[in-house]
Amino acid sequence: MAAKPVAQRAKRLVVLVSGSGTNLQALIDGIAAAGVEAYGAEIVAVGADRDGIEGLARAERAGLPVFVRRVRDHGTREEWDAALAEAVARHEPDLVVSAGFMKIVGKEFLARFGGRFVNTHPALLPSFPGAHGVRDALAYGARVTGCTVHFVDDGVDTGPIIAQGVVEVRDEDYEDEGAALHERIKEVERKLLVDVVGRLARNGYRIEGRKVVIQ
Ligand code: GAR
Repeated sequence: MAAKPVAQRAKRLVVLVSGSGTNLQALIDGIAAAGVEAYGAEIVAVGADRDGIEGLARAERAGLPVFVRRVRDHGTREEWDAALAEAVARHEPDLVVSAGFMKIVGKEFLARFGGRFVNTHPALLPSFPGAHGVRDALAYGARVTGCTVHFVDDGVDTGPIIAQGVVEVRDEDYEDEGAALHERIKEVERKLLVDVVGRLARNGYRIEGRKVVIQ
C-alpha cells in the first residue's frame, strides 16, 4: 500500500522592506486568500532598515511582528549586517524575501541565508541592476523591461534567476521619469512574487549553477 503523503509544514517567511511595501501586501493578501496550508508558507516577521515606512505599517496592520535595524545605529556596515542577520535568524525562517529592501546585505547575512534569500528587482536582469532599475532602462531606451525574482548572491542583483515578467515601455513613459512604468512593472511583479514564493515553499527547489529548478 502506498504511504499516505505527510502534510508538509508551512514554510516560515521573513520579509524585508524599505518603502511602501506593496509587494509585502501582495504576499500578505495572497497567503490570506489561499490559506497558509494551501499556499505553503506564512510570514512570521517583517524587517526594515528604517522606521516610519508604509511597509512596516502594513505589517503591523496585519498583526505581524516587525523589527528595524538601521545602518546608522551600528559602528560599521559589518556590524549592521550581523545585527540584521541575527534579527532575521531569531524568527527561524526557511526563506527570506527582499521585497523592496534597498540595502545590499554583507557576508554574515549571506553565510546564514544564502540559497534561501529571494529578491525582486524592477528590471529584466542582467540588464539594469542596482537601485534605479526602472530609470536606467528608460535612460537606455529599452523597449521592453519588467521584473526579475532571483536568489541573492554576493553581487548586486547577480544571483540565479527564478522567474521574470515582461512589461512594454510606452512613449509616454518618458514624461514622468518612469513613475507610470514602475507602477505597471509592480503590477506584474506582485503577482510573480506571490506565485514564485508559493511554488518555492510548496515544491522545494535546487540551485544548479545559474539554474533554479523548482521541483
Ligand atoms: C519594487 O518594484 C522592487 O522591485 C524595487 O522596489 C520596489 C518596492 O516596491 N526594488 C528595487 O529596486 C531593489 N533594487 P514596494 O515597496 O511597493 O513593494
